[in-house]
Amino acid sequence: MSRTLSADETCVLVTGGAGFIGSHTVVELLERGYQVVIVDDLSNSSPVAVDRIKTIVGPEAAQNLTFYEANVLDRDALERIFSAHRIDRVIHFAGFKAVGESVQKPLEYYHNNIENTLVLCDVMRQHGCKSIIFSSSATVYGDPDALPLTEESPKKPATNPYGWTKWMIEQILTDFHTADPEWNVVLLRYFNPIGAHPSGLIGEDPKGIPNNLVPYVAQTAIGKRDTVHVFGGDYDTPDGTGVRDYIHVCDLATGHVAALAWMNGKTGVEIFNLGTGTGTSVLEIIRAFSAACGHEIPYVIEDRRAGDVTANYADCTKAREMMGWEAKFDIDDMCRDSWNWQSKNPDGYATAQ
Ligand code: UFG
Repeated sequence: MSRTLSADETCVLVTGGAGFIGSHTVVELLERGYQVVIVDDLSNSSPVAVDRIKTIVGPEAAQNLTFYEANVLDRDALERIFSAHRIDRVIHFAGFKAVGESVQKPLEYYHNNIENTLVLCDVMRQHGCKSIIFSSSATVYGDPDALPLTEESPKKPATNPYGWTKWMIEQILTDFHTADPEWNVVLLRYFNPIGAHPSGLIGEDPKGIPNNLVPYVAQTAIGKRDTVHVFGGDYDTPDGTGVRDYIHVCDLATGHVAALAWMNGKTGVEIFNLGTGTGTSVLEIIRAFSAACGHEIPYVIEDRRAGDVTANYADCTKAREMMGWEAKFDIDDMCRDSWNWQSKNPDGYATAQ
């Protein structure tokens, strides 16, 4: 049994806590009274995000946040962090996440994402911490045979090294629990996180040309890109474009808090889908974003992108029934908050003070 702890006596280590999903989750944790330690090497994030987290939660809750700039592969740094804090739970976000890049750099992806998890778990167990929430992905379902996807839907071969790292780390953590039943593992399979904190202070800040749809649409809306390239107009969907289950990043953040509360005092391995249960097409996203920003967003329909599935969306019954969690925001909320962030921070964190 892991110890049952109240929020204010629980210290959560958040790897990648300055990143897109990490920063929103840290806000939610601090607002619920948790003590939070972030470890992030800032390779795909900014120290400004950490300052903005403190602004959102206010000075009192900000006192419960400690930030370390370090790479999770750095065992000595992790040792120092675990020695300085009594870490009770870990939420592991840190990892490379660009699907296309992972095809070009498989060695870097396997080394970074898998090795950092192994180093992290080794240091955790040496310090008696065996509770971990892992950032997994709907990508483990591959091309689905049936929709919606439940946690029992089969895992399918991944189509890129990034997807394989999620797939393999799920297996690795499951094996840890088989070998040592004291491990307490929650695998959260995210669908497509978009949106931003309603304050407009934190959001997604992709480096270079965005790979994902909504950041690309947002940059087109603000004039940094000329037109949205819609990858495929001949899918077997109502309007011919790909369908995904987009989820507001703040809903995803509350999903982590629900998982922390649910896992408290337990051991085992449990998987939860985090989505909304609703599929939305690329053209529906472009229309909703146009409404949010108040002008038409140009787009052109092109060939399909290699590796993309036609449609996926989640069945989130398990998260609702077991953790009492469900998504609250709809596509219009997501586009409104994404536009609010983009328009207040046209260059992301780059020019922020
Ligand atoms: N799309 C476009 N134009 C773009 C980008 C995307 O038309 O410029 C389309 C895609 O073809 C797809 C949809 O928009 O139909 C969503 O694409 P994203 O790249 O935003 O998201 P994916 O569903 O491809 O990828 C997401 C996560 C991955 C995860 C994957 C599988 O970003 O981390 O879901 O669950 F692996």
